[in-house]
Formats: sequence, structure tokens, C-alpha cells
Amino acid sequence: MNTRLTALSLALSISVTACPPARRPPSEPGATTTLDAAQPTIDERATIEFRLEGRSVRTLTLRALRERVIEETVTNFDPYYGRDKRFRALPIERVLAIGFEGEATGPLATRPFVLRARDGYTVPLAGERLLEGGGYLAFADDEHVGRWDPIGPRRSDPAPFYFVWKHPSQVNLETHPRPWQLAVIEIARYEAIFPHTVPTRAAEGSPARRGFATFARECVRCHAINREGGRIGPELNVPQNITEYRPVEQIRAYIRNPLTFRYGAMPAHLHLTDADLDDLVAYFTAMREEKFDPDAPRASDAGYARDP
Ligand code: HEC
Repeated sequence: MNTRLTALSLALSISVTACPPARRPPSEPGATTTLDAAQPTIDERATIEFRLEGRSVRTLTLRALRERVIEETVTNFDPYYGRDKRFRALPIERVLAIGFEGEATGPLATRPFVLRARDGYTVPLAGERLLEGGGYLAFADDEHVGRWDPIGPRRSDPAPFYFVWKHPSQVNLETHPRPWQLAVIEIARYEAIFPHTVPTRAAEGSPARRGFATFARECVRCHAINREGGRIGPELNVPQNITEYRPVEQIRAYIRNPLTFRYGAMPAHLHLTDADLDDLVAYFTAMREEKFDPDAPRASDAGYARDP
């Protein structure tokens, strides 16, 4: 996928031009004396942006964060790597307190958050969850000098920031998502960020509304509806709604276990019940009537592909 490749090459080009070697973590005493000098190390100039309801409040470098937050070594089972993994990381409570210092009123744990990665992965997360304890912004893979193990089905570079969780109870990706290449942490209501994914004509409590809740919780991080949401998977409503070109039975089977169709980047959803799948299909069907496509070709663009 182009965006991933671009982000990856960007990350790589940044890391080769990077900064003086960072201090070795105390956890690896003298581990790599011969390699150290030649290795690109942590990119202290990598940035993360903090946004409040659509407005950028500040962008901080890793160096600025590390001046104020004490790093920790975090080890836990990592569901993407499929094994225990060790990182150098900053506790998210401290990172948010600095990122939103003087800007956000009231306790951050009551606010809705959205985490955005460079490759388009966009995951809404309640402040209560984000701040439950155990969430960390990892800035280095602590198992190597100056490089990360590639991650995910496309073997991406997780740099500069990979969001991880410390506790053994926090290894389910549905409840405790782990965005890599994390670029933006935003405080915003779901409806403000993804207004056109809401099935406005469906009654509260209807199957379409229930399906929407499932979609918001488990799918929007990778899929857009009306061009709003993640870009890892295909857009599911415009120009054609998924139910307009795929049979319903195939959609249901695909959602439950895509790997029986093709090897791709969509995870299986074996925990979804038949009723959950009915609700998702009701949601998609409802969205056929609520198409909104800011990028639809206009009449004035009609000749854009003509030969000169
Ligand atoms: C981690 C990202 C990710 C998540 C989460 C995810 N998908 Fe997907 N989805 C993909 C990708 C990538 C594809 C493209 C094909 C592939 O790689 O399997 C896809 C394909 C699909 C397709 C087939 C589209 C087509 O035209 O072939 C449907 C339908 C779908 N997803 C629905 C869902 C629903 C519903 C959910 C939530 C329950 C969901 N996906 C969650 C990444 C994801």
C-alpha cells in the first residue's frame, strides 16, 4: 500500500539523518559496543501532534518529551509480534498531561480520544480506557540497537512511536488497540470526527444503530464510510456501498474470517455473533441511503482523462 511505503521510506530517511547516539538503556549494559557507533539510533526529532477538537494545540519532539517524562522499560506479550516484547517507553498519562497542558479542561479520562497513525489507521478510544493505567508510548524497541522489528502483515516500521500496553490483561487488540507510526493524539467526539458515518435516519436502538456501534468500535479504525475513518481497508460506502456489489452471505463470511478468502491485512472477527453480523449488514444497508462523497467527480471534471 502506497501510504505505508511512503511512511516507511520517510521513517527510514529520517532515521539515517538522525541525531547523536542516545544513551543506552540501563537494561542492556554494554550490550553492543562494537555496533553502537555505526548504528542509527533513536530519532530525537521525531514528533507527535496533540489536537483538541480539530485544533492543533502543540507538536512535541521526542527530545522534548524525554526531557520531562521518565522513561520505563515495558515488557508484555505483544499480539502483533506474537511473543513477549520489550520496549523503551513513556507512560501515556505523563505524555498527555504535557501534550494538553493548559489546554484541556477537566480530567482527561472523561474525554473521548482518537489516535491517528501515519498510514491512516485511526482509532477512537475513550479517555477512561486510554488512561486506565498500563498504556505507553514506546519510542524504541529495546531488543535491538537503533532499529525496530518490522510489524504487522506488511512488515512496517513501527517508528517513531508505537502505542503499547503493559499488563497481561491488556493484550486484546479490540479492547486495547496498538497503533504503530502514531502521529496524532486528538481529543474529539466520535461524531465530530466521523459525522458522515452516523446512520442519521435510523431510529435509536434499531439494528442499523447497533451495527453502527459495532462498526465504530471494531471497524472504523481501518475502514472509511463516506471517506471518514481508516484507510487500511477499502472504503465501504462510496461510490458503491459494499452491499451493492457483494452478496450479503459473502460479506458476513468475509467479516468473520477474511483469511478463508484471501491472505490480507484484515483480522478475523470470530467473536462476532450472527446477530452482530445481521446488525452490521443493516448498518451498511442503511448507509446506501446516506451517501456523502466529497471527492465525487464533478461535471466540470468530466474531461480530465482526455488525451491532449
Ligand atoms: C486492521 C484493519 C481492519 C479491521 C479492524 C477491519 N478490516 Fe475489513 N478489511 C481490511 C483490509 C486491509 C481489507 C482488504 C482485503 C484484505 O486485506 O483482507 C478489508 C476488507 C473488508 C471487506 C471486503 C471488501 C471487499 O470489497 O472485498 C469487508 C466487507 C470488510 N473488510 C468489513 C469489515 C468490518 C465490518 C470490520 C469490523 C467488524 C472490519 N472490516 C475490520 C482491514 C480491516
